[in-house]
Amino acid sequence: MKNICIMGTGYVGLVTGACLADLGNRVRCVDIDAEKIKILNDGKLPIYEPGLQELITNNVSRERLSFSEDISGSIRKSEVIFISVGTPSDGDGKVNLLYVEGAAEMIAQNLNDFKIIVNKSTVSVGTGKRLMEIIEKKSPSKAEFEVVSNPEFLREGSAINDFMHPDRIVIGTNSERAYGIMTEIYGPLYLIETPFIKTNIETAELIKYASNAFLSVKISFINEIANICDKTGADVHVVARAMGLDGRISPKFLHAGPGFGGSCFPKDILGLVQLAKERGITPLLVEAAIKVNNAQRKVMVEKLKKLVPNLGGKTIAILGLAFKPNTDDVRESPALDIIKILLEEGCTVNAYDPVALDNAKKAIPEINCYDNMMDACEGADSVMIMTEWNELRQIDLIMLKEKLGAPNMVDCKNIYDPVKMKEEGFNYLSVGRPLLERN
Ligand code: UGA
Repeated sequence: MKNICIMGTGYVGLVTGACLADLGNRVRCVDIDAEKIKILNDGKLPIYEPGLQELITNNVSRERLSFSEDISGSIRKSEVIFISVGTPSDGDGKVNLLYVEGAAEMIAQNLNDFKIIVNKSTVSVGTGKRLMEIIEKKSPSKAEFEVVSNPEFLREGSAINDFMHPDRIVIGTNSERAYGIMTEIYGPLYLIETPFIKTNIETAELIKYASNAFLSVKISFINEIANICDKTGADVHVVARAMGLDGRISPKFLHAGPGFGGSCFPKDILGLVQLAKERGITPLLVEAAIKVNNAQRKVMVEKLKKLVPNLGGKTIAILGLAFKPNTDDVRESPALDIIKILLEEGCTVNAYDPVALDNAKKAIPEINCYDNMMDACEGADSVMIMTEWNELRQIDLIMLKEKLGAPNMVDCKNIYDPVKMKEEGFNYLSVGRPLLERN
């Protein structure tokens, strides 16, 4: 059992804190945002993540997990401090380290005895060294400490499972003592044979960027292939499946659509581009992935224009606003980018999402939000499916056709079968699956 402090109660900090408590540690989660701590102490969650509420309630009641505004006291009582504060992008894509550095200063001020400072926030290469310098310089006690880079690979919507069953755990440190304590913390996962990658801090920092950038390139690649499918009569589902059966490629992250979004991929690949450029390297492939991703939003609107040529004054129903299912996160969501284009074209936008309506409305107040998907579709000139929520896979198509002003659908997530949709009487377009005569 370790005494652990988690700095930052965002999505990564809360999941990490709750899971480490569940593994038997005593975890104190702190935040500079008093409102967030109040919400958590009232037994509520500031974010939506499946299973997290139960995990937190259970560990709070067992007194292994607590939330506090007392940052200094919590640092002083802990041997291991995880930094999981936000690292927003500056305008030029550079990672803003203001919060990470602020956390390091707080730790320096409260370094009462040996501590391990573990950075989980996604940061540019060299930040670990910078944290060491700050703590060394600003610590009045000059007590011993070690800095570790331990990037997270959690996906929103399945973060608890990802934490408990990771593909790998990366521990970047030059200290055997720190490595030993980290393997003790993650010990229960070791038992289920999780591979541990022991490396230096810089390599660990780059592993996170390289992983997210590679996945982004993979998505942009399949979207480019999908656009070629649209012009040639090939079917991207079959192409992706056949490609994925090659063990060197793997079938994951080959789903064509409106492009990637979320709080990580767009920010992280810009961060990598910035990092490379600062060192005199032009990262051509990663830059191309960004360009393809931005263009893919417009490709979706062009599809809509095939069904509804003059968008001005038309009503479009958007089903799904979150950047992916099982989250209320709308940051960099393809749905919101497309809604902005539709509003510029003079459309009225009616929208439905099971959990992300409030966040979307905050981001774009012009959206007409509906709690019921059929109400959002009433009289619309077309419907666009933007997130592959399970409930959107099961729409009553007969009722939908009756509700819509015209039976037009752009399925940006390829969740319906083009042949069935034609049989149901829809003018249906999807991504990279032109309607073919099937053999
Ligand atoms: C991503 C990574 O998958 C995590 O490993 C990482 O820890 C996290 O970023 C992070 O850096 O913190 P996340 O942003 O939650 O996780 O979401 P993903 O499931 O990776 O999806 C990202 C975007 O790619 C979504 O918009 C999704 O719809 C899109 N996507 C994904 C596709 O368009 N096609 C695919 O085949 C897969």
